[in-house]
Amino acid sequence: MNIAGEMEVLKDLEAVSARAAEVIADRIRSCTAPFRLALAGGSTPRGCYRHLAQLHQVPWDCVEIYLGDERFVPHDHPESNYRMIRELLLSGPSVQPRGMFAMPGDGDAQSAAQTYEEILRQQYGSSHLLAQSPLFDLQLLGLGEDGHTASLLPGQPVLEECNRWVAVVPDGRPEPRITLTYPALESSRLTVFLVCGAAKKVALARARAGDRTIPAGRLKPQGNVIWLVDRAAAGIDAD
Ligand code: 6PG
Repeated sequence: MNIAGEMEVLKDLEAVSARAAEVIADRIRSCTAPFRLALAGGSTPRGCYRHLAQLHQVPWDCVEIYLGDERFVPHDHPESNYRMIRELLLSGPSVQPRGMFAMPGDGDAQSAAQTYEEILRQQYGSSHLLAQSPLFDLQLLGLGEDGHTASLLPGQPVLEECNRWVAVVPDGRPEPRITLTYPALESSRLTVFLVCGAAKKVALARARAGDRTIPAGRLKPQGNVIWLVDRAAAGIDAD
């Protein structure tokens, strides 16, 4: 599927957050178990998780939650994506998912990546990704100003990884990162990107144009793609 996908331009981060929560909840409501949901880290999805935690009639008992990437820090560390998801989403009154699969945050990073890959293969039920049976039902992704997504950072060897599903990104950020690789990230029935702020206008345009000189532009999602962006990121002047 073409990465350009569909784009919805919303007023601001709050509107993007509410809309993203709706899109995710609607997909979960129309699913059969298990619904494998991969969540993004960083700051942009925080509002979406808050909204999602308050929505009603979401059959969370069908949902297995995974992470697209993680900072390799303990789970109670302020930089932990799992901690953010636990505090903003899992704290929701009715949010009791069928499974919450956090990436390990202790020991050594290579073993943590291997452990998470084994979990994914086990839950998926095969060691080969099948085009007709995507690994995820919905993958939520962000976009960095430098064009990275998940922790597929510019210039990193992980960009060339086409066999492993999970890899370590040892540098490029204050802490090592554990990230899903292109094969795993692309294996999704629906990919939803959340992009807000004028600082991301260029990266957004390049990613949607499939510009292979940035990591997000190289992604070839198997399923549909929706971009939920605010007016600033779309380059439309705020009212
Ligand atoms: C992370 C993310 C990363 C994020 C982008 C955008 O763990 O940081 O998964 O890929 O989506 O860096 O980050 P912001 O949403 O904070 O701008």
